[in-house]
Amino acid sequence: MRRIAILTSGGDAPGMNAAIRAIVRKGIYHGMKILGISRGFAGLIDGDFMELDGTAVSDIIQRGGTILRTARSDEFLEEEGQRKALESLKKFEIDAVVVIGGNGSLRGASRLSSLGVFTLAIPVTIDNDIPCTDYSIGFDTTVNTVVDAINKIRDTATSHERVFVIEVMGRESGFIALTAGLAGGAESILIPEMGYDMEMVIEKTVRGLNRGKLHSIIVVAEGAGDVMEISEKIRKTAGLDVRVTILGHLQRGGSPSAFDRVTASRMGSKAIELILGNKTNRMVGIRSGKIGHINIDTVLKHEAKIDLEVYDLAGILGK
Ligand code: F6P
Repeated sequence: MRRIAILTSGGDAPGMNAAIRAIVRKGIYHGMKILGISRGFAGLIDGDFMELDGTAVSDIIQRGGTILRTARSDEFLEEEGQRKALESLKKFEIDAVVVIGGNGSLRGASRLSSLGVFTLAIPVTIDNDIPCTDYSIGFDTTVNTVVDAINKIRDTATSHERVFVIEVMGRESGFIALTAGLAGGAESILIPEMGYDMEMVIEKTVRGLNRGKLHSIIVVAEGAGDVMEISEKIRKTAGLDVRVTILGHLQRGGSPSAFDRVTASRMGSKAIELILGNKTNRMVGIRSGKIGHINIDTVLKHEAKIDLEVYDLAGILGK
């Protein structure tokens, strides 16, 4: 295996660049040539490839986003798109492809592998909703960004004795909300995986304020409900002063945390080791601190699960 191509696909996440850097530098160390593909599967179809040498990845370990750029492309799901992708790989004489991204990217990686392409994947998404790995690159940075925002909102919430409903990302999952909510000391955390009773949320909020709390922070995962409706309900039912903050895409940007940089470096390096060991259709992952790998199609058959102990703990502590 001499010529390896890398692509980043789906939502960008802090740490993607650190993973690219690790693959390039470790690959070169083992005598490989590394090529970057622009705009994920769209660039694979269009034949948008560039050579990446050691210097091309200088000064990127600390940068958010992805130097390769990314896209959400459906074209690769079509036969014509796949035909063009295979042509590009042949034209650039690619021996293996490393796909960096979330669940959608893993589906693309599985398709690529089923077409006979030597394929590896690295889990990267701020949502942390990829099964069969304890962790996906980007999550730690995002959680820290959200906690920082909660801290700031809490200052103004306390000064005005207000209730704040804060919407965070996560698509259909509540990992960001639960982890950042627990770390930020939120009074209530609403996530799609667990049902909630709005009356109880309001009752808990009122009880806290009556006990002398000067604020109340309710963190809502975007998949758990409409924050405007939730705030309106609290305002109408309890007559409280409520404000809404939707954190949006600021959660996706920023310099990756040390943990994300180190994990991306370890996972990128592992991808090259798997290529050297002739292991295809594998996703790199981490379990109990150890970097390992698993069949991509097995990953796609599972679902990432919320830790119920953590969920219960957040409920107990957020009194
Ligand atoms: O998957 C990452 C994510 O940021 C989700 O949390 C969010 O729902 C989605 O991407 C937003 O996607 P887009 O940037 O395409 O609007």
